Amino acid sequence: MQTFQLDFVTPSEAERCGAFELREQVFSHAEQFTAEDVSRNCFHLVAREDTKTLGYGKLVVDGAFARVKHVCVSPDAQRSGLGSRILLRLLDRAREEHTTTVWLLARFTALGFYHKFGFVEVGPVVRSEDSAAPHRRMELRFKL
Ligand SMILES: CC(C)(COP(=O)(O)OP(=O)(O)OC[C@H]1O[C@@H](n2cnc3c(N)ncnc32)[C@H](O)[C@@H]1OP(=O)(O)O)[C@@H](O)C(=O)NCCC(=O)NCCS
Repeated sequence: MQTFQLDFVTPSEAERCGAFELREQVFSHAEQFTAEDVSRNCFHLVAREDTKTLGYGKLVVDGAFARVKHVCVSPDAQRSGLGSRILLRLLDRAREEHTTTVWLLARFTALGFYHKFGFVEVGPVVRSEDSAAPHRRMELRFKL
């Protein structure tokens, strides 16, 4: 059984351990390091096995809303439960930050993954800021 360690890390640590490189590789567009990445409301979650970084996801908190972005798992580690663990940890963090709604822009190929956690599509097809591919906004409201 694979044993992954999940940690929230600073932007510098995320860069140092290759998490930003991983997200650039997994997403076909070349996601650039942005001002958002170093903002105090942005939380970087890194999944590692020994010293190898195999997964990443981030949470951006804005008042009662939190946005999940760039959830990704290295292709050779996909479908082994790691993406679920990353998403669940991000949702826990969103609750700890006292948000009520988590949202994201999902690629069509990932809709089924987010459905499993209760996310539902909201609104029309949109494009994300950093990809030409069609996306849907999905939301999950925490039960109060
Ligand atoms: C989407 C992604 C993060 C899922 O991570 P993962 O580690 O492979 O997912 P898990 O192993 O935790 O899978 C959890 C469940 O979701 C399902 N699932 C995983 N990816 C799925 C997908 N793309 N579509 C539908 N269901 C999916 C799995 O079959 C599993 O179902 P089960 O519990 O019934 O067995 C990963 O495939 C990935 O990095 N994809 C490329 C980047 C991407 O599209 N990210 C989403 C951005 S919008």
